[in-house]
Amino acid sequence: MSAQVKEIPTKPYDGQKPGTSGLRKRVKVFQQEHYTENFIQAILDSVDAKGQTLVIGGDGRYLVPETVQTILKIGSAHGVAKFLIGRNGILSTPAASNVIRKYKAYGGIILTASHNPGGPNNDFGIKYNMSNGGPAPENVTEKIFKRTKEITTYKTLEYPPVDLSKIGATKYGPTDVEIIDSVSDYLGLLEGIFDFALIKNFLDSTLDFRVLFDGLHGVTGPYARAILVDTLKLPESSVQNCVPLPDFGGGHPDPNLTYAHSLVEAVEKNNIQFGAASDGDGDRNMIYGKGAFVTPSDSVAIIADWAQECIPYFKSGLKGLARSMPTSAAIDYVAEKKGVEHFEVPTGWKFFSNLMDAGRLSICGEESFGTGSDHIREKDGVWAIVAWLNILAAANKKSPNKVIGIKEILLDHYEKYGRSFFSRYDYEEVSSEAAGKMVDALNKHIVEGSLVGKELKATTGESFTVSETKNFDYTDPIDKSVSKNQGQIVRFSDGSRVVFRLSGTGSQGATVRMYVEKYTKDASQFTKETGEGLKGLIEVALTISKLKEFLGVEKPTVIT
Ligand code: G6P
Ligand code: ZN
Repeated sequence: MSAQVKEIPTKPYDGQKPGTSGLRKRVKVFQQEHYTENFIQAILDSVDAKGQTLVIGGDGRYLVPETVQTILKIGSAHGVAKFLIGRNGILSTPAASNVIRKYKAYGGIILTASHNPGGPNNDFGIKYNMSNGGPAPENVTEKIFKRTKEITTYKTLEYPPVDLSKIGATKYGPTDVEIIDSVSDYLGLLEGIFDFALIKNFLDSTLDFRVLFDGLHGVTGPYARAILVDTLKLPESSVQNCVPLPDFGGGHPDPNLTYAHSLVEAVEKNNIQFGAASDGDGDRNMIYGKGAFVTPSDSVAIIADWAQECIPYFKSGLKGLARSMPTSAAIDYVAEKKGVEHFEVPTGWKFFSNLMDAGRLSICGEESFGTGSDHIREKDGVWAIVAWLNILAAANKKSPNKVIGIKEILLDHYEKYGRSFFSRYDYEEVSSEAAGKMVDALNKHIVEGSLVGKELKATTGESFTVSETKNFDYTDPIDKSVSKNQGQIVRFSDGSRVVFRLSGTGSQGATVRMYVEKYTKDASQFTKETGEGLKGLIEVALTISKLKEFLGVEKPTVIT
């Protein structure tokens, strides 16, 4: 059967501006006539995909299968040579990054809105990744946006839909299509990175050390099952909520203490030593054992500290370490001790990718539950979880007489490096105007230096003296691009720090984030609850910023 390329007249839509995490909107927005088609045509026009191989994969949310077929229609008419597609349109974001790199594809279209809720009344997203496996940089997303504003037609080739459930090679009209297993390449990747024999040996010989992974009905269920149940031979009970659902079972698939309550409850109730969860598309992670929550800032520092010793991929050493600016300095202390280069970059994974492509970065992380390495160009939730199992296995091998759990690893780390108490307060969906006024007032202080030298007393008896206030600007050491105003920092003379930042990912009003960090070498503080350790500093941060007055709210919506 041969079809003709049809040119369909269309009109530009406003606001098809992709962030680095792609275009994220409500499903209903994507369902408007020609909306999705316009955006796909704009991507293909902007990246010059004629004659190339593109990867397609999504997190299983509502609208993914239909959108894969739309990409086939438009891509085929555009002259894309080949599509590599995850079975049923499914690839976790890290798995898609790996497939692009492994098969040397030209790029990939990833269908996800990450940790945002899914289903007909929630979010969908389309994101373009480059041949390095990482999200398109700003010059490319800008080009796509520009194209969406001038589009007048898109082209299609209409053939019967491809059966996405059948692994193997097929054709969509003139275009080659290959449906690949969503999990096997990724599993192979991790098997080449970690010491699975060591992990298996530890889990087999320590039966009272139980593991529980919660997929939150996102994309990682099948990946975690392949690793934990099929490869490490753990019982079925070590995974829960691992069937991906188009609406994530109605939940909010974000691994933190608020939204991953199904994991937190099960861990506490059943005394699970090692619990973990990942987000909708599989790039975020949370590590949580009975009575022991690992902050993402500590998690990346601990992985960095142990990596060379026990993770085969890092055996020959670390190229460099990095964190996003609001993330605590815990990883810096590790880098300093090991004598490796370390970087502080603005929020967003793309800043890490540049350093990785230049061979200067091995392990990095963000306070927003993102941890990863240069094995791909996205953060990687399941990678971080297996890294922790690898570390626990190594630590237990060193300590044959006592079972080492998450708590012991944390305490050991604090004894070696000191502890950075860290917490983030989120004020979601506040008025943009009010948030703007708060930012302006802080900027005024920064420009005038009017907070520096000020001493503030907290009800805890502590007192904090402001030593520095500044806006965080960053010059990329590789491409020299400059990113200004990436967060407002208030530093205190004891080394504590508070950061204020407006979220770049919220979809309603503004979201203000307040990050608080306090460092201590006092061993009596190592077992304290985070909230207790930070109580005084949080009071001072709220006083200084007049946050409650500006935003008109008493409490944050989420604390992590
Ligand atoms: C996405 C990016 C992360 C980033 C986060 C920040 O998840 O992939 O790299 O840390 O957004 O979100 P925010 O809402 O704080 O701008
Ligand atoms: Zn995500």
